[in-house]
Amino acid sequence: MQSTLNDKPDFHVAIIMDGNGRWAVRRGLPRSAGHRAGIAAARRVVEAAPDLGVTQLTLFAFSSDNWRRPAHEVRALMTLLRHYLQTELRQLLASGTRLTVIGRRDRLRRDLREEIASAEAASAGGERLHLQIAFDYSSRAGIANAATVWLGDDSPSRDAFRRLLARQGAGNGADVDLLIRSGGEKRLSDFLLWECAYAELCFLETLWPDFGADDLHAAIADFSSRERRFGALSRTPALEAAE
Ligand code: FPP
Repeated sequence: MQSTLNDKPDFHVAIIMDGNGRWAVRRGLPRSAGHRAGIAAARRVVEAAPDLGVTQLTLFAFSSDNWRRPAHEVRALMTLLRHYLQTELRQLLASGTRLTVIGRRDRLRRDLREEIASAEAASAGGERLHLQIAFDYSSRAGIANAATVWLGDDSPSRDAFRRLLARQGAGNGADVDLLIRSGGEKRLSDFLLWECAYAELCFLETLWPDFGADDLHAAIADFSSRERRFGALSRTPALEAAE
């Protein structure tokens, strides 16, 4: 049973960074300005995470459904990822961060694919924080692809399926401990469905560009006070007496 971070060697936080567009519109700015402000918020969170005990941080930057947005916004998000990789890599390396990008690559421009591969290779030795950026990511598509490959194998096990998911570009399959969503909506939006099976969920009204280390700290403090039972029963004296 896990209710505090004290004895927890791995702590995976996943964030749906929602609210960039509303943040911009409220200021009379184009939506892309909200995404740019969102990059700054992502930087703050990446910097704060290791000192708060986070070992893996997964950020949802572009959903496979986001292709349905206007072409100029899609282009802006692609450009922002490229910009992020180019400007942040030095800092990520200095802070011992390993970067991986999960999701489909085949629909990205070749220069962006190359930028991703080169950032992943350069940061492969990082051991302090594993930063996963989910881009052209669909959890359902990842599960469906893995299941397709699975057909024919007659010895399914959860661990084998988890490894298969990882090979299908659906993330490394690490269970999410804490899922945070900014921007006021309360849904998962096809993000880490398998990995969130026992995640503690934290939905915040804060718009992502206003999100900071204090918000991450508060969410983790709240997480620490929750009792995680993973489907079992609480270890109460009454339960122990009944055994
Ligand atoms: C959702 O807000 C946010 C996105 C679709 C993109 C998130 C991207 C970033 C924060 C920048 C990229 C970050 C990295 C680390 C590369 P929305 O546009 O749906 O906001 P709204 O609900 O207010 O319209």
